[in-house]
Parts: sequence; structure tokens; C-alpha cells
Amino acid sequence: MKYIQKDHLKISRIGLGCMRIKEKTVDEVEMLVKTALDNGINFFDHADIYGNGNSEKLFGEVLKRHPDWRKHMVIQTKCGVRRATNTNYYDFSKEYIIKSVDGSLKRLGVHYIDILLLHRPDLLMDPKEVADAFNTLYESGKVKYFGVSNMNSMQMELLQKHCKQKIMFNQLQFNPVTSSMLTSSVFMNRFDDEALDRDGSTLDYCRLHDITIQPYSILQISKYLGSYLDNPEYPELNALLQEYAEKYQVTKTAIVLAWILKHPADMVPLAGTTNPHHLIELCKGSEIELTREEWYFIYHASIKKRLP
Ligand SMILES: NC(=O)c1ccc[n+]([C@@H]2O[C@H](COP(=O)([O-])OP(=O)(O)OC[C@H]3O[C@@H](n4cnc5c(N)ncnc54)[C@H](OP(=O)(O)O)[C@@H]3O)[C@@H](O)[C@H]2O)c1
Repeated sequence: MKYIQKDHLKISRIGLGCMRIKEKTVDEVEMLVKTALDNGINFFDHADIYGNGNSEKLFGEVLKRHPDWRKHMVIQTKCGVRRATNTNYYDFSKEYIIKSVDGSLKRLGVHYIDILLLHRPDLLMDPKEVADAFNTLYESGKVKYFGVSNMNSMQMELLQKHCKQKIMFNQLQFNPVTSSMLTSSVFMNRFDDEALDRDGSTLDYCRLHDITIQPYSILQISKYLGSYLDNPEYPELNALLQEYAEKYQVTKTAIVLAWILKHPADMVPLAGTTNPHHLIELCKGSEIELTREEWYFIYHASIKKRLP
């Protein structure tokens, strides 16, 4: 496993996303976490809302069984999304951020959170109030580092203007198929729809400001469309992934991971599997160096359009 260093944090190049552990047993989560640690993964992503808090609770139960594991872990959680019957809404008020962190600390059974992310942009965000919440959490020792998720460059710029703590991470969906962050660059200044900059050059902004991107849902097109793997809508992509999987003697998922890791932005993708065997297969991708040609061929097959 390779690692990146961010201030005092040493983070594995693959994180384990804990969104889907919500209905697993403590024994199953224990096995998954042990497999992650045994394979060099020290980075674990949570959110207060995963399973309505149950993902954090199950993880906390595992830590109760293995308190010595905590010191080897970078634990991240997210806050700011609130659930209502018909919709989600967002809440970056100081009161809600602090209440949410206190809830996560309790469920996880830890004294501090290594990284706190704001989960999705709050349209009513007052950056001064967020800055105040971050200060309170930092000074009380409850949170060490901060970041965001699903935010574009200007949203980050606005927040950073007021926050003393550096915005160090942005968690974004990213994979060969969900890659408009790349596509708007390569088609820039053309009439193609692909030239539309949907995110305000977020990728370049993150690179300019040393903000580490954490790609999520690396195997999914979207929550509703499911995976592009073995999906008849993506025959060329799946054939290529299969060809490279055979060449490098790994699975197609490992090739996807290698594709993300090859990008020089030093991204830290999250694996969402709850299956220890799938996790081991995926990790093998961190040892593979795709050629430039292979990287572009996967990209081309994913966007289904000839590059200019
Ligand atoms: N910030 C945000 O807004 C946001 C949104 C979504 C997710 N996230 C984070 O990102 C993490 C990952 O997201 P995700 O779960 O959507 O990611 P993912 O890794 O793309 O998807 C995992 C799903 O793919 C399935 N899968 C099928 N075959 C697989 C194989 N061979 N290898 C690996 N997985 C396979 C898994 O099932 P099995 O369990 O059976 O392997 C699991 O249901 C989440 O846990 C969460 O921490 C963040």
C-alpha cells in the first residue's frame, strides 16, 4: 500500500467507505476492518447519516473489541445533511455541526475525529458561522483536520476566506464514467456539450490549493443507474477493463482503481465494498501502473466520444 502525507496525517492511498456496513453484523464489520488494516488501509470514511448513525455505531462496537486499532486509523466523518420525509436538506449552522460531531464521537466511541467533512453544500451557508464551528471543534480537540464534499471551487474559496483551518480534502464522485471534471478540460473552447464546465474547474482548483480529492462511488454511474461494470451500455469499456485485468492478472475493479490512482492529483479513492474478498482484489490496483495509452483508452471508452 502507498500512503500520502498531509501535515501530521499519513493516509493510505485507498480508504474504506463505511456507508454500506449499516446492516452488517459486528462480526462482519470486524472482519472487513481487519482485512482493510491487514492490507495497509488505515483510512475510514463515515457520515453521521449512514444507516441513521448505525454505520458509526457498528464501527464503534468493533473498536470496543480492538481499542488498540484506533491509533493506526485515520477516522473521517461528515456532517451537514439532514433527512426529512420527502427530501434531504442541509444545515451548516454552528449548533448543528457541533451536535453532529458530538453524536459521531459518541457512536464511534473515540475522543477525536481525525477529519471532518461538510457533506453537501448548504445553500444557506454562512461561512463565518462555519468558521466559528470549526474553531470550537479544533480548539476543544474534537476534530484535527477539516474538508468538504461535493463542493465546487468557488464554494471552497468562500469558505476558506473565513476559516482559519485549511480546507484539506474534497470528497467527490469520480470514476472513468463520471468524469466531467476531466472532460470539460479536454474539450475546452469547443461547441461540444462536453466543453461545459459544470464544476468551476474544481479539479484544477484542488490541485492548485493542495486539496486532496477523495473519489467516491468509483464503480457507480449514479445511485439510480447502478454500476457501469458488466453494464451492456458500456461494452467497449468493459471489454478494455477485462483485457487489462487479464494482462495485469487482477480484477476489473483493480484496473479502475489503478486508473484513478494514475492521475497525478494524488487522489485517495474510497472503496465501498463490504466484502473482504472484493476489498483485497481492489487493493491490488494500487500496485499497478497503467501505461498512458491504457489510461486514455479507458477514458475514451468511458466517455464514448472521440477526443479532439
Ligand atoms: N460524499 C458523498 O456524498 C458520498 C456519496 C456516496 C458514497 N460516499 C462514500 O464513498 C464510499 C464508497 O461509495 P460506494 O459504496 O457507492 O462505492 P463503490 O465502491 O463504487 O460501490 C460499492 C458497491 O459495489 C458493489 N460491488 C459489486 N462488485 C464489486 C467488486 N467486485 N468489488 C467491489 N465492489 C463491488 C459492492 O458490493 P459488495 O459489498 O458486495 O462488494 C457495493 O455494493 C461510501 O462508503 C461512502 O463512504 C460518499
